[in-house]
Amino acid sequence: MNSKTGTLTAAVRSRAELQQQVRAWRQAGETIGFVPTMGALHGGHLSLVKTAATRATKVVASIFVNPTQFAPGEDFDTYPRDESADRAKLDSVGCDLVYLPAVEEMYPDGTRTNVRVEQMSDLLDGIYRPHFFYGVATVVARLFLHVQPDVAVFGEKDYQQLQIIRRMVRDLGFPIEILGGRTTRDPDGLAQSSRNLYLTSEERRAAGALQAALHRASVRLSLGAKPAEVLSEARDLIMASGFREMNYVSLVDPDTLEDLPDAPLPDGTVARLLGAAWLGKTRLIDNISVTR
Ligand code: PAF
Repeated sequence: MNSKTGTLTAAVRSRAELQQQVRAWRQAGETIGFVPTMGALHGGHLSLVKTAATRATKVVASIFVNPTQFAPGEDFDTYPRDESADRAKLDSVGCDLVYLPAVEEMYPDGTRTNVRVEQMSDLLDGIYRPHFFYGVATVVARLFLHVQPDVAVFGEKDYQQLQIIRRMVRDLGFPIEILGGRTTRDPDGLAQSSRNLYLTSEERRAAGALQAALHRASVRLSLGAKPAEVLSEARDLIMASGFREMNYVSLVDPDTLEDLPDAPLPDGTVARLLGAAWLGKTRLIDNISVTR
């Protein structure tokens, strides 16, 4: 039951129905907040919905497992899908409308037109998942055109994605404010993520090491340690905790995502530390702000 209205959150599957509702709301003077998701919702998503509700009078969430952001061999087919559980969770935080488009609704005439945020999409995660951010930018641009929100909220947990969407919105002039939502964490620091469902209980016990290592590195960097040795220690700590393969731990400019030089951060610098590593069959990512 929707905590705000006492009724079930309405759901629509077509762009036409969605736009009819959004138009009616606009005529009534409402503003629209939007939270795009791929479902398998957890506390992090629900906190994004709550953030959207602080900045708009109506909140639309979408659930769409976007095929264009998965490479062959990735987990598109097995990605967790549970529409009724997701809808119950959205009800519980007062989401006003759920958009559940099918692939044909999002890509009615195939996937020939794509959005590429050059350079930023090829760094960090883009090195390991070269297709990924092109698929994300493309689907988010399409979702923005379907929903036409005033404000959209993306989790800081996917920091590179958040910055790429900000850049896309700026470059293409979407009249949408982009907000970053704080990462929701389990008590051991593990960032909540739909893919945490893949972890075995032994892996789950080790998973908090990623955030612990980034946190320790962030403290050392903020005290003026040299990045190369701090990042190397963080990688070693993560691997010593049972992770199987390191992708990266990198210290970057928080806007451009480009690597920072190997020198103590000058006073007043704000940087971002990001990490990605495989724990068994699950690839975990996380990040933390660093302020000198
Ligand atoms: O972060 C996600 O869940 C997805 O990348 C998004 C933004 C919904 C696009 O498919």
